[in-house]
Amino acid sequence: MSRVAYVNGRYQPYRQASVHVEDRGFQFADGVYEVIAVIGGRMVDAEGHIVRLERNLDELRIAHPMSRAALQVVFEETIRRNRVDFGSIYVQVTRGTARRDFPFPAGVRPTLVAIAKPLDRAKIAANAAKGVAAITTRDQRWARCDIKSVGLLPAALAKQQAKEAGAFEAWLVDEEGRVTEGSSSNAWIVTKDGALVTRQLDNGILSGITRSAILALAKAEGLKIEERAFTPAEAYEAREAFVTSTTAFLMPVTSLDGKSIGNGAPGLLSGKIRALYEVYADSQAAGELPSAPYLAP
Ligand code: PDD
Repeated sequence: MSRVAYVNGRYQPYRQASVHVEDRGFQFADGVYEVIAVIGGRMVDAEGHIVRLERNLDELRIAHPMSRAALQVVFEETIRRNRVDFGSIYVQVTRGTARRDFPFPAGVRPTLVAIAKPLDRAKIAANAAKGVAAITTRDQRWARCDIKSVGLLPAALAKQQAKEAGAFEAWLVDEEGRVTEGSSSNAWIVTKDGALVTRQLDNGILSGITRSAILALAKAEGLKIEERAFTPAEAYEAREAFVTSTTAFLMPVTSLDGKSIGNGAPGLLSGKIRALYEVYADSQAAGELPSAPYLAP
């Protein structure tokens, strides 16, 4: 089946879908994006993602391409036309197209692109059952990681480093020697006394929608939660570790920098929270539960 992309008001076959050579996303990484999970052909936590998108646009003073309701319709139509049952939708908004000049151009319309693709749920679940390896590397990103900017070069370099080390994810370490987050996920550990630890929201990390949903589930379970930074040394000694993201849900991390975490197998708590999240995500997409909120830093 041929794939269809939404570009500035039109649904086009991939081969014809394109943006201008002077799009500011291409020239300056002047744009933001979202990735939203799709289950049963419907988005998970659409509202949380759209609120985050709008907040990120406002932070960068990029005009909203359309209303919230209209965005939702475009995303649903992109999913439908690509016949995605389980997968994700990728949405990118840039400041627009203008003759190359650093300051913001006046009167341009933002560029809106949406593409949808299927993902293999069984394969993701199989990965989660085995657990994945992670490495640590220096966080080389900018000072506004709360914005989901399309300027992803440091994240791509870190992910490549992880790949070359046979790992799934790279955990980024700030100048104080603390883990900020994964290159495309939030990072969590479970301490020896059973507390769930993930970094507090600030400009150093993206406020993940999956993180927000999982915090709510963990609170409802009465788990002890600590929103604070932790070091790689603390992670090596942790009972469990995992990452969360739209496309991985909750992925157990069983080794960090080649050192086994816990007994080297996915942890019990990680498995339990992952199962809770799967039920949550299925019900949320089906419209039976409200969207996890976007938690502003
Ligand atoms: N990444 N931190 C970073 C740096 C991310 O890029 C992501 C998501 C997350 C998790 O956020 P959420 O739970 O809202 O997906 C945290 C997406 C999936 C990506 O870039 O493909």
